[in-house]
Amino acid sequence: MQPDPIILGIESSCDETAAAVLRADGTILAEAVFSQQAEHAAFGGVVPEIAARAHLQHLPDLVADTMRKAGIRHHALHAIAATSGPGLIGGLIVGASFGKGVALAHGLPFLAINHLEAHALTVRLPGLMPDGPPEFPYLLLLLSGGHCQCVEVRGLGQYRRLGTTLDDAVGEAFDKSAKLLGLPWPGGPHLERLASGGDAAAITLPRPLLGRPGCDFSFSGLKTAVARAVAAGQARPADIAAAFQASVAAVLADRASHALDMARSMTALVVAGGVAANTAIRTALRGVADARGLPMLAPPLRYCTDNAVMVAWAGMERLRLGLTDSLAHNPRPRWPL
Ligand code: KG4
Ligand code: ZN
Repeated sequence: MQPDPIILGIESSCDETAAAVLRADGTILAEAVFSQQAEHAAFGGVVPEIAARAHLQHLPDLVADTMRKAGIRHHALHAIAATSGPGLIGGLIVGASFGKGVALAHGLPFLAINHLEAHALTVRLPGLMPDGPPEFPYLLLLLSGGHCQCVEVRGLGQYRRLGTTLDDAVGEAFDKSAKLLGLPWPGGPHLERLASGGDAAAITLPRPLLGRPGCDFSFSGLKTAVARAVAAGQARPADIAAAFQASVAAVLADRASHALDMARSMTALVVAGGVAANTAIRTALRGVADARGLPMLAPPLRYCTDNAVMVAWAGMERLRLGLTDSLAHNPRPRWPL
């Protein structure tokens, strides 16, 4: 009997440098995520040049440590999977080149992974979800600092983007609004904490695109409204935070509901991305799923945010179908699903 394939996954598309060694049965032999947050915090956001240099500095040791912890040598690997887009080009070049180098040195197949596909397939990782993975097709709501979209996941390689943001990603809206409220970056969790002591009804903020057809998003008007409210100096910061969060939760629920109407016969509502950590947002989305008798599934937080396990898993799914890539594959900063 052939042993279960083992894949080394690499993630470097934004500000997390990550590596993981995964076996096809879902066993994570080792994984590591190095967050560059501290290196970007002083600038109030991710600085692409700093990110690229930090990936270059940390990735080789991180991979070596991860292989050591997994307790295997390179010849025990069956393939190398590296995020090759979309994302910041510097980091993508570092991770993909490193992955190709390892693949070349050890004569292994290389898998160029689309970061969005990796988020979309995470829930299928064996053993991750307590009630087992959802069947295709399911609706993915990707809510992160860089991405905000509704995707119908029909099967491996079969994705239909139903809606996306017209301006800021939802995490970006949290971070920018938090900054206006004087909170540190990344502001999402700080804003949530501030909102817990506020009254969402104390101030009225817009709910962009609520009730409109389709499932696109728009957050820049809401952010401007937060800026105006802060400048006016009349509302308490906690109330502004609470009203902002309530507005985002209501908009996301509305958009998710429209997306489920557009996609039809979905088996589940799957939520991923750092913003999925927000309790008010989870509650609102669970309400949408419950109303349709669907499960709402969110991977555990560390697999909701950027990580290399999801990259290795997407690689596993592709390897199974023989969908390997040439070493001439170029990273793609823009790479829609
Ligand atoms: O998926 P992620 O870790 O990274 C990428 O953007 O790729 O998402 C990070 C985003 C940040 O914008 C952060 O502020 C937001 O997720 N976030 C939250 C919360 N925790 C993280 N937003 C709202 N509430 C939270 N509790
Ligand atoms: Zn991501």
